[in-house]
Amino acid sequence: MIHLEKVCKQYNNNALSDEFGVKNITLNIESGEFVFFVGKSGAGKSTLLKLILKDIDPTSGDICVSNLPLNQLGEKQFPYYRRMFGIISKEIGLLENKTVYQNLELVMRVTGQPTKTIKESIPKALGLVGMTKKMQSYPLELSEGERFKVLMARAIINNPLIVVADEPTANLDYETAWDIMNLFNDINKLGKTVLIATHATNIVAAMEKRVITIKDGRILSDVTKGKYGRVL
Ligand SMILES: Nc1ncnc2c1ncn2[C@@H]1O[C@H](COP(=O)(O)OP(=O)(O)OP(=O)(O)O)[C@@H](O)[C@H]1O
Ligand SMILES: [Mg+2]
Repeated sequence: MIHLEKVCKQYNNNALSDEFGVKNITLNIESGEFVFFVGKSGAGKSTLLKLILKDIDPTSGDICVSNLPLNQLGEKQFPYYRRMFGIISKEIGLLENKTVYQNLELVMRVTGQPTKTIKESIPKALGLVGMTKKMQSYPLELSEGERFKVLMARAIINNPLIVVADEPTANLDYETAWDIMNLFNDINKLGKTVLIATHATNIVAAMEKRVITIKDGRILSDVTKGKYGRVL
């Protein structure tokens, strides 16, 4: 479903510079997989996710998602491409002057969903992350962990194929971080492909998912059942 072929991203477009985000990444991710990207700060995890989302374009190499070569994707098709994804990012936060329900309603209205679907989908998505009771609360009335769960509900509300999260558990205590990771597992069980960049290596090791370790922009290891600890 996601295929990267010899992908390089050089941020500074100067041939003499060695500022690579990622170098020569070849990677296949099948539909329905759960993949963790780990590695030190600056390794290239966010760069890789941004390339897949087409937030940025590679300097060289090819990326194909759902048989769609991203280099052939025009500006007009881009919004439709992005509807394949549920993106969980603190940079795209909740609107503070709208309730949890209204925040979710808004993203459904933008994609032109009928009212009946909206009314059915919102309690369902909030139920999945255990936030139904907070439907009428405002974001500032929620804890950070609760806000994050609402972001998860928002990411899945339009039924994306792929869910992407960059450091979802940063700033959360260990127990809440586990809670969040288990919710990603539930989302994965719904058949969605899940891609997570994280530093929460204890949780990653315990979850026994596919773990791709990035070092200096390259894939250092790619293991299917999480027991990667020693190579870091
Ligand atoms: N917009 C940018 N302009 C220039 N260089 C960048 C830019 N974004 C990232 N880089 C560089 O690319 C490399 C990879 O960065 P990236 O953000 O992908 O790392 P990361 O693995 O996500 O790190 P972290 O764990 O700290 O989030 C780093 O050397 C970084 O300095
Ligand atoms: Mg990052």
